[in-house]
Amino acid sequence: MTTFPQQDSMIPQSGNPSEYAVYTQDLTQVFGQKVAVNHLNLAVRRGEFFGFLGPNGAGKSTSIKMMVGLLRPTSGTVLVSGVDVWQNPLQARTLMGVLPEHLNLYERLTGREFIAFAGHMYGVPAADVRRRTEELLEILGLNNDADKMVVDYSVGMRKKVALAAAILHRPQVIFLDEPFEGIDPVSSRVIRDILQDLTRRGTTVFFSSHIMEVVERLCTRVGIINQGTLVAEGTLQELRERASGEDKDATLEDIFLNVIGVRNEAHNLSWLE
Ligand SMILES: Nc1ncnc2c1ncn2[C@@H]1O[C@H](COP(=O)(O)OP(=O)(O)OP(=O)(O)O)[C@@H](O)[C@H]1O
Ligand SMILES: [Mg+2]
Repeated sequence: MTTFPQQDSMIPQSGNPSEYAVYTQDLTQVFGQKVAVNHLNLAVRRGEFFGFLGPNGAGKSTSIKMMVGLLRPTSGTVLVSGVDVWQNPLQARTLMGVLPEHLNLYERLTGREFIAFAGHMYGVPAADVRRRTEELLEILGLNNDADKMVVDYSVGMRKKVALAAAILHRPQVIFLDEPFEGIDPVSSRVIRDILQDLTRRGTTVFFSSHIMEVVERLCTRVGIINQGTLVAEGTLQELRERASGEDKDATLEDIFLNVIGVRNEAHNLSWLE
């Protein structure tokens, strides 16, 4: 049997697990010989804007899929607002909004229909669905395309319509896997504003991203995962102190490269010389 080292340094914060918006304990995913996520212990407080970082293949999407009920963990538990996602999946799903990595949308619905459909699925009253759908279409700049079928949407438009569908029921926790990927600067700004507004009203945002500048600007806390293992977690200030020692001006990119062990070396292709 495969055994994995316990990550003693990354135990969840003290307190009652149910008090946290997201609480994982030894969350693990093994694909064949590959340990994609290795005893992930995280505790995210309510109302927090949590950024989940890591290089390609680090295990971010796999972790998120286990947290939202899309991929059964090999072992370990995850609670969302105190509800065990794998023991009470239906109850857990009503508490969360999800923007997954691969958008699996109903291609034959129009954007407007798709957003409204999501609202009805979550049991939002019809009048609220109508009002919120129109407001979301407007604010996300989808008004002119609202009656076009999703199959004909661009990458960014699909992401925006999926985001609208994920937040219409006002979830307590919203999980977003790379929400800013493929999004233009104007829409990026709008999405940032919406997410910040949500956290100000008590919603917890948990998102993965490769865009350091966005994470730096938005997040109250950051977790960095490398090869399936959580290698750093804390506020930007805490990470700065821990990872970069004396360097008080370290950027998140510096910290990131430091904790995942990337040296400052040139990357030249030998055959270009
Ligand atoms: N269904 C699967 N079967 C086998 N291996 C998988 C599967 N899904 C993910 N993996 C592997 O697990 C590891 C983590 O993948 P994951 O998609 O979680 O990374 P990520 O951090 O989201 O990366 P990226 O930044 O590129 O999106 C990778 O090595 C990947 O190949
Ligand atoms: Mg991913």
